Amino acid sequence: MQGLSGRMSRARGVARSSGEQGRGFGFCPEFRSTGRIGIFLKKISVVWAGGFLVFEPNFHLGRARVRWAGLLSIFGLAAALVVAALVLAAGLASGLYDIGADAHHTRVVLALIEVLRDRSIAVRAQALAVPPLADAARISAGARRYTALCAQCHLAPGVTQSPLRPGLYPHPPNLAQQQPGGDARRQFWIIKHGIKMSAMPAWGRTLDDAAIWDVVAFVQRLPQLSPDDYQQLSR
Ligand code: HEC
Repeated sequence: MQGLSGRMSRARGVARSSGEQGRGFGFCPEFRSTGRIGIFLKKISVVWAGGFLVFEPNFHLGRARVRWAGLLSIFGLAAALVVAALVLAAGLASGLYDIGADAHHTRVVLALIEVLRDRSIAVRAQALAVPPLADAARISAGARRYTALCAQCHLAPGVTQSPLRPGLYPHPPNLAQQQPGGDARRQFWIIKHGIKMSAMPAWGRTLDDAAIWDVVAFVQRLPQLSPDDYQQLSR
């Protein structure tokens, strides 16, 4: 008899655990223990619930416990997200952040804007087809446009002052001092579409694509030009 009951209970144990493995949040042996660990986990869960849920006093330690733990962690995560959103909304509504162009961004805001700007441009510019840019007529047409439209913000060889430039934030890069060449697709995209919340205009509203490529061809050459070359080209 003893041998038979022992075999039966072993068989039940095997059947129960293999049945639990296939369902719900999965099988977690700790949650099935009834000793100290079980009572300890039960206490933690009561605190964790924090009054959100009506707790069942005769909560039995089994699959249900695993489900409760899963539910509670989802509640905890949702609550943390709601608190974070409220803090962000309160910060924005308070008006504490200085949007004036004469004060710099904080590091965090600057880092976010830079990633946003650079990824936005990279994704949109990558498919552009670049025409031949070495053509002399194209470069001199671009030079004349640059002098009329761009130099007051971006300077040029021999042009080192501008009343507009000191007050701009973000500060327009000095295109005469950049690395020669540069990413033509990126330059075309920026010149055509401009950049939000900066002084860089969208020239696509006043220039057609061919004229913008002329300007790109010139911008690529700009860092190699002497002030005399620039004067001659831009006439
Ligand atoms: C009123 C000022 C202003 C004018 C005019 C202007 N820009 Fe800009 N431009 C900016 C500012 C400011 C930025 C920087 C924007 C940023 O980084 O968010 C910029 C960025 C650029 C960039 C990207 C530079 C880089 O490598 O990051 C290019 C290229 C550029 N401008 C070309 C031009 C050309 C070409 C013209 C003329 C057709 C022009 N810009 C006219 C203000 C101006």
